[in-house]
Amino acid sequence: MTTTQQSHDQELAQIRENTPVCPVTPPHGVPTWLVTRYDHARAVLVDPRISKDMHSAMSAYQALFGDSSMALDDNMIFSDGPKHTRLRRLVAKAFTPRRVEALRPRTQQITDQLLDAIGPYAPVNLVEAFTFPLPITVICELLGVPADMRADFQRWSTTVAGTVYDDDSVRLQQAAEEQMHHQLVELVALKRKEPGDDLLTDLIAARDDGDRLSEAELVSMTWLLLFAGHETTARLLGNAIHALLTHPDQLRRLVAEPHLIGTAVEEFIRFDGPAENATFRVATEDIPLADAVIEKGSLVQIVLATANRDPRHFDRPEDLDIGRTDNHHLGMGHGIHYCLGASLARMEAEIAIGTLFRRFPHLTLAGEVPRLGPENPAFRGVSALPVLLHART
Ligand code: HEM
Repeated sequence: MTTTQQSHDQELAQIRENTPVCPVTPPHGVPTWLVTRYDHARAVLVDPRISKDMHSAMSAYQALFGDSSMALDDNMIFSDGPKHTRLRRLVAKAFTPRRVEALRPRTQQITDQLLDAIGPYAPVNLVEAFTFPLPITVICELLGVPADMRADFQRWSTTVAGTVYDDDSVRLQQAAEEQMHHQLVELVALKRKEPGDDLLTDLIAARDDGDRLSEAELVSMTWLLLFAGHETTARLLGNAIHALLTHPDQLRRLVAEPHLIGTAVEEFIRFDGPAENATFRVATEDIPLADAVIEKGSLVQIVLATANRDPRHFDRPEDLDIGRTDNHHLGMGHGIHYCLGASLARMEAEIAIGTLFRRFPHLTLAGEVPRLGPENPAFRGVSALPVLLHART
């Protein structure tokens, strides 16, 4: 892990120990409270006084994201019940465990094809060659995004995930969001005209007691699934591979005991998961917590990464232990907004990491590993992963 990342993590760990519910004023200017301990984080994630509804907290939402995201963000992750319940129920009709399980052989095939295409004896950046292409291909195939639209979606979503704090980035983001919105409207129209055996076609048809998704809801739901469905998984894969390469004892253990891949994936999410913070939340009243009072109208930023290393909850929290059991981390959230794609992400990670190290047990790092900086506040993780697949130790 780089020194910048280490000092950032140490700073947050000190906040957790000294001022666990901590007021800060980020560059967007909206008063914000950091929640850094496990028990507090878990409680806040299910506290009905803390809202995720962008419409009821419009000024905070706009300070954070601007105007242009609204059409795309009007979806379940920015809603409270009953709107949230309704949207989540409708998507659950189409995004079933059976559909995810059916993707397993195809995910294995894509994994093998991507690894086959990498020259085994020259250094390669796994972020470009493997950790991003795999989840992008899987989520696009699942949704039914035609191959010729995929590169654009990936480019735009990377831009949207970037910083919101300087004028140039905001302009770029707005342009990307407008183009993305336009393209998604076309995609939904295309699926109406030419239905396929895919999730988007099923979402168009999904009904619940006569209720169905509107055109605008279909567009923002598709955006949420596309975005959440690849950035997070891609970052998890990069961080997990890096964690194994920098903890050779754990890598040897996984190679010797491949059945540990299930607990290993949970541990990767706990140890260095891609979501440093939970998403947008606003206090709807004054909320006493620990020694503080979170003031009505302020943002609540739940620092999942710090909660996941809270020594009050985890034994040896700073150690990577791929056999860890009872690993109730918060890396995929908790409560009604618990990650909708959790089983898909787990399946992809198990196949990707398991296959990579089964085929290339002597994989080694081949250069410096940079990490995302503050310009990328939504995610934590490696931004490049130079490796040699066939190096022998
Ligand atoms: C390792 C990969 C992933 C991680 C670490 C992750 C993490 C999270 C977290 C922390 C939340 C809760 C946010 C909050 O309460 O503020 C969440 C929600 C969500 N995730 Fe994931 N996610 C991953 C993969 C995926 C995938 C593959 C999909 C879709 C195919 C997905 C779709 C969603 C959706 C739609 C929500 C919102 C659910 C709701 O509001 O009810 N995620 N995810």
